[in-house]
Amino acid sequence: MVLFNVSRIQTTPFDGQKPGTSGLRKKVKVFVQPHYLENFVQASFNALTEAKVRGATLVVSGDGRYYSEQAIQIITKMAAANGVRRIWVGLNGLLSTPAVSAVIRERVGVDGSKATGAFILTASHNPGGPNEDFGIKYNMENGGPAPEGITNKIYEYTTTIKEYLIAPDLPNVDISTVGVSNFTGPEGPFDVEVFDSASDYIKLMKSIFDFESIRKLLSSPKFTFCYDALHGVAGAYAKRIFVDELGAQESSLLNCVPKEDFGGGHPDPNLTYAKELVARMGLGKSEPQGEPPEFGAAADGDADRNMILGKRFFVTPSDSVAIIAANAVQAIPYFSAGLKGVARSMPTSAALDVVAKHLNLKFFEVPTGWKFFGNLMDAGLCSVCGEESFGTGSDHIREKDGIWAVLAWLSILAYKNKDNQDKLVTVEDIVRQHWATYGRHYYTRYDYENVDAVAAKELMAHLVKLQSSLSEVNKIVKGASSDVSNVVHGDEFEYKDSVDGSVSSHQGIRYLFEDGSRLIFRLSGTGSEGATIRLYIEQYEKDPSKIGRLSHEALAPLVAAALKLSKMEEFTGRSAPTVIT
Ligand code: G6P
Ligand code: ZN
Repeated sequence: MVLFNVSRIQTTPFDGQKPGTSGLRKKVKVFVQPHYLENFVQASFNALTEAKVRGATLVVSGDGRYYSEQAIQIITKMAAANGVRRIWVGLNGLLSTPAVSAVIRERVGVDGSKATGAFILTASHNPGGPNEDFGIKYNMENGGPAPEGITNKIYEYTTTIKEYLIAPDLPNVDISTVGVSNFTGPEGPFDVEVFDSASDYIKLMKSIFDFESIRKLLSSPKFTFCYDALHGVAGAYAKRIFVDELGAQESSLLNCVPKEDFGGGHPDPNLTYAKELVARMGLGKSEPQGEPPEFGAAADGDADRNMILGKRFFVTPSDSVAIIAANAVQAIPYFSAGLKGVARSMPTSAALDVVAKHLNLKFFEVPTGWKFFGNLMDAGLCSVCGEESFGTGSDHIREKDGIWAVLAWLSILAYKNKDNQDKLVTVEDIVRQHWATYGRHYYTRYDYENVDAVAAKELMAHLVKLQSSLSEVNKIVKGASSDVSNVVHGDEFEYKDSVDGSVSSHQGIRYLFEDGSRLIFRLSGTGSEGATIRLYIEQYEKDPSKIGRLSHEALAPLVAAALKLSKMEEFTGRSAPTVIT
């Protein structure tokens, strides 16, 4: 039994430790400053209060990005000093964000213990490495991100912090070997358990999906498959699930070795950053070598996001959640008794709304940020939900789930192909059939990254001010293009949580058109430098003869209107967005 002591270390507050949409994300250079991480962790313990910290079992792991290992050792020493009873660490410090959620909800420790929270070490889809981003966020006992009530308290504590507790002589834990290490501090025992990162998650996936039917699909000579982990933590699950459990070829895995700098790439699964996959699927600038696979998917750094592709075909995340919802009951055993309800974030297209209406399902529109779905799920009101930002998931956990989304799509494909017809029903067939039934929501998002923060605020203020005169708005819109309908409503989205009554204001500026089109402007809550302006553009088309247009052509008039309304170039100096998805 190793004995350790507790030290109280004097410290002073750092500016700007306010958690964003998904925790605190900063450059590694900021995090490595003496006391920086420690202040945030102590503020988190203070905010959670002793009742939730003393004797607790906490998970500490993440996407394996640069600085994770050091952070795990620091947090472990601080947890020991703050009276935490045990720490659980995924092997090599790796746990995807959805796996953390699953571990909190499902895992039972070797001594029968259950976890009540987690520090997740990730900056999600932001690049990693010594010059890039690190991040930390706290998840609660339901497996979901801490609500604003807690994150605001954490922030308050960071502004007044004077000392933190740490066990400096607690030895570093070997996180590269499964096993339990036991220690004793002034208040009794403290354990660290290192466990296999994938097995709890795989068990959960097997209880949701029919692995046998997916295995059959993957073994069909008509079906070809490709999965790109972008060197994120999804790689720690991909081989075990897709190859070992479901029989996919190893050659169908791209970039599936987790790396602390994501191989120098930007681990965000979209058409811009998942270049290799996009090229392989026949969606790149040049023709691919050989026939593209029938199905392709990618994940972000912490494996909660997903991108779904068919052969030469992109499925928008907004369509993806709508299609999953429309097919869930038939194709996924977990949902066979029916869906409790569905939900999307405000900027996500209304494709899901149409499905909800057809199937007579409860429907919710929430602000951006997965935590808003958690309350609905805890109250039994929502089974499937999704966001335009490549997040899709269900109430099996309280995070979005990149691999779950892939398994959901494979299940739908398996279901549509169950009669083993000569011709494969493809991803594209499924999407086009969906549009024919429900209509199509043309959709695109323009991101202006790392814009001057003051300019971004001014642009947003200008857009809010404009809303006081719709006639002025319509003059500008019509000046940009005669091809768009009238703006009939403008506001800033405000959400009242139907479960706990909390109100979230200023959740994005909306311009709503007579024909159902929408323009939405939001400032990103996940960046680590400057400001990122997001512009979401959507147009609904019910006429079956008009659902096959190229998205950027169909949306061109609305794009012109949006750029003119916002004076985008004038405020930001940018003549084009950084990323279009
Ligand atoms: C994270 C959250 C998502 C949210 C996204 C928004 O990924 O988990 O729920 O949609 O951030 O990011 P943004 O940069 O648009 O604030
Ligand atoms: Zn993520």
